[in-house]
Amino acid sequence: MSDELEERPSAPSGEERLEDLRERKRAMRLGGGEARLKAQQERGKLGVWDRIEYFFDEGTFVEVGGFVELRARHFGLDKKAVSGDGVVTGFGRVNGELVYMAAQDFTVLGGSLGEMHGKKVANILDQAVRNGAPVVLLNDSGGARIQEGIGSLCGYGDIFFRNTRASGVIPQISVIMGPCAGGAVYSPGITDFVAMVKGTSNMFITGPDVIKTVTGEEVSKEDLGGPEIHHERSGVATFVGEDDETTLGWVRRLLSYLPPNNEEPPPITNPVNRIAENETDLGDIVPDNANKSYEMREVIDRVVDGHSFFELQAGYAPNVIIGFSRIDGISTGIIANNPRHLAGCIDVNASDKAARFVRFCDAFNIPLLTLVDVPGFLPGVDQEYAGIIRHGSKLLYAYSEATVPKMTVILRKAYGGAYICMCSKHLGADMVLAWPGAEIAVMGPKGAVNVIFRKEIAGSDNPEERTASREREYIETFANPRMAASLGYIDDIIEPGQTAGVVRKYLWSLSDKNEPRPRRKHGNIPL
Ligand code: HXC
Repeated sequence: MSDELEERPSAPSGEERLEDLRERKRAMRLGGGEARLKAQQERGKLGVWDRIEYFFDEGTFVEVGGFVELRARHFGLDKKAVSGDGVVTGFGRVNGELVYMAAQDFTVLGGSLGEMHGKKVANILDQAVRNGAPVVLLNDSGGARIQEGIGSLCGYGDIFFRNTRASGVIPQISVIMGPCAGGAVYSPGITDFVAMVKGTSNMFITGPDVIKTVTGEEVSKEDLGGPEIHHERSGVATFVGEDDETTLGWVRRLLSYLPPNNEEPPPITNPVNRIAENETDLGDIVPDNANKSYEMREVIDRVVDGHSFFELQAGYAPNVIIGFSRIDGISTGIIANNPRHLAGCIDVNASDKAARFVRFCDAFNIPLLTLVDVPGFLPGVDQEYAGIIRHGSKLLYAYSEATVPKMTVILRKAYGGAYICMCSKHLGADMVLAWPGAEIAVMGPKGAVNVIFRKEIAGSDNPEERTASREREYIETFANPRMAASLGYIDDIIEPGQTAGVVRKYLWSLSDKNEPRPRRKHGNIPL
C-alpha cells in the first residue's frame, strides 16, 4: 500500500469562490431570464426586483432563501429549476420601519406555487409574526404549480393557515400585480387589505374557460375578476392603482397609519394639536334641510389633521365611508355615513365594509371616530333576502366587541336600529356628541305619524292638516338631541365648529383606556 496521499483536485481559490457566488447571485436576479423579464415589462409590469427596490427604503432590502430550489422532478421540472423557485422573500424598511415581503416572480414558471415556493412564503410569514412586523405579499402567479400536485396544494394550505394565525397579530397586505387564480385568491382573501393594479391584475376562483364549460356563461377575465369588479362589486379590493408604482406607493402610505403589531400603540405622526374650540367652521357644510345631501368627506377633512384622511374601499358600498386619518397625529379609524349615496342608509354591503374595518382597528389599537347621519337600514325585499339581519348584526357585533377608544358624533339623523348600530352609547361608545340639529328617534316623522296616528288621521275632517300637525309635534319632540342628552345617551350637544377641538380632548383623555372583557376563546361573529 502506497503511503503517498491521494492527490485531490485543487480547491478553488477564495477569489474564484467569490466570483462564483457573485455570478450565481447575478443569475438569481434574472429569475426566468432576460426574455421573460422583457415580456413582463412589455405588459406594463415591473420585474420583481424593480418592485422590491421601488417599495423599500433605498438599499434596505435583505433577501432570505434566495438559493432555495424546487425539489419536484416530474414533467421536466428538473430542467426548469431556478434558484429562488419563483418567489423572492425577505425584509427591509418602509418609512424606516421593519416590513417583511414575499414577491412572486412571474418569469419563473409563471410565478406558480410549488412546495418550496410555498415553504418560502410560509417562512416569511413566520418571521414576520415572530418579529412583530407587517407583511406584504406581492401576487403575480398562475396558481398551483400543476407539475407538483400535492406539493403545491400543501404550499397553499400552509400559507392560509399562517395568514389566519397572523390575523390580528400583524397587519397583512396583499398586492395583486398579475394573475391570481384558483385557490391562490384565498391568501389575499384572508389578509387585511388587497390592492390591485389596473390593466394587469385579476382574481378569480375559476377562470372564464371553466365557467364557460360549467355554466355556459361567457365573460372576459377583466369582467370576471378585474380590479374594477373587485373594487366596486365584490368588495375584495381595498384599492386600485394605475400602475405598479402607484399601487406600491399606496401600500407605503397605508403602512404609515398602522402599528407594526397588535401589542403596539397606533403610530403618531406630525401632531397638529388643534384643540382650540370654534376653530373649524362646519356649519356651512351640512344643510338645514334634513332631506338635502352634502359631502361627508368635507366634514371629515375639517375634523381630522389636514390632508390626513386616507380612504379605503372607496368604490364599494359608497353609502358608508371608511378610512384612516390622523387626529393630533394619532392614527384614527373613521367610519361615516354618506348622505350622497342611498341617503346614507346602511345595507348589506355597507355593514360588511364598516364591520371589517372596525375589527381591524380594534385588533391593532387604532381609536375609532364615527360620524353619524343615518336614516336607517335600507328597506327592501332584496336586502332582506340578502341577509341584512345577519350582515347588520356584524356591525353591531364589531362595535360592541371593540375596546379601543370609541368616539361618535351625531351630525343630523340617527334613526332606529341604525342609530344604535353606529357606535351609540349603548354599544359602549366612550364619547357621543351631537350637533344641535341631530334627530334621534325610532324612525323619521312621516313613517312615525303614519303608524301611531293612522286611525286618528283617517277619521279626521282634514287628514292632510292633521298629518302635518302631528308631524310638527313629532319633529319638535324628537328632531333635536335634547331628549337623548337628558337621558345621558349623549355626553354633550356642541356647536359644529367645536367638533375638532372636543374630539381631540376626548382622544387625549382616552389614550390609556383599558376595558377588560370576560375571558373566552373567541366570540362567534355572525359571518
Ligand atoms: C405550472 C405554469 C402555471 C401553473 C403558468 N405556468 N401557470 N406552470 N403551473 N399553474 C407557466 C406556463 O406553462 C408558461 O411556461 C409560463 O408559466 C407563462 O405562462 P403563459 O401561459 O405563457 O402566460 P400567460 O399567457 O400570461 O397566461 C398566464 C396564465 C396562464 C393566465 C396564468 O398561464 C394560466 O392559465 N395558467 C394556469 C392557471 C391555472 O389553471 N392554475 C391552477 C389553478 S388551480 P413556459 O415554460 O411555457 O413559458 C389552483 C388550485 C390551488 O391554483 C388550490 C389551493 C387551495
